[in-house]
Amino acid sequence: MPTVRDVRSKAGEEPITMLTAYDAPTASIVDEAGVDIILVGDSLGNTTLGHETTLPVTVDDMARHTGAVARATEDALIVADMPFLSIGVDEAASIENAGRMLKEEDAHAVKLECGPHTVDLTKKLVQLGIPVMAHLGLTPQHVNQYGGYPRQGTDQEAAERILELAEAHENAGAFSLVLEHVPSNLAAEVTDAIDIPTIGIGAGPDCDGQVLVVDDAVGLSEWTPSFSKQFGDVRGEMESAIDDYVAAVESGEFPAAEHGHEESDLEELY
Ligand code: KIV
Ligand code: NA
Repeated sequence: MPTVRDVRSKAGEEPITMLTAYDAPTASIVDEAGVDIILVGDSLGNTTLGHETTLPVTVDDMARHTGAVARATEDALIVADMPFLSIGVDEAASIENAGRMLKEEDAHAVKLECGPHTVDLTKKLVQLGIPVMAHLGLTPQHVNQYGGYPRQGTDQEAAERILELAEAHENAGAFSLVLEHVPSNLAAEVTDAIDIPTIGIGAGPDCDGQVLVVDDAVGLSEWTPSFSKQFGDVRGEMESAIDDYVAAVESGEFPAAEHGHEESDLEELY
């Protein structure tokens, strides 16, 4: 069974790899590639559910997709993202929502978009046996506060706040920290300052690991952020396969005899 301790012990030795997945087939491919951590990100709101932001994503959405990923994964550590307002409003509800991902859906840990309000919650979750991955820098659930998705930690005060929160979440027991869209020198400083692994996205090369949204990485998304990279052209592959299918049906080329539509020896019905 993959554990958060494996992730911690890899830090500083070898780069940690993390990708999102939201469904069983993608999870099995990511897992078989040997990716260390599969994040069932609330980015599924954008990628899979077609919303403009992650805000409409529900605990039920996360539970459904976490279960699908877990059923298809053997080796990777599975981290379930906690969606907007599922944590931080009420402690009991936060614990119940996070606990559901482990208890009912076979995640190994949860990820929280963090701020001062998640320090005590992290401590409590860890005490209860729910490992926590913290997330600082750009936290997309704050899109309405940001007015978009700007880089974070770009001035001295903001950078210090991120460093302080990183240390606070390490002390609260988080096993790792995602740093999203922050200057690479800030990510490097945070990585130096804390012992738990940092996993960067748009945070430069000096984190202990990297994460991308799988749709962006494989080239399925229509749009990808500038800090991402397309390692394939899945959208192009699907477009060409589907064009071929349509053409084959329209021309009568599919289905052919080899596709198993033999006649039976029925007598004529009329
Ligand atoms: O939801 C998500 O995919 C994330 C990663 C980008 C870190 O939070
Ligand atoms: Na997320």
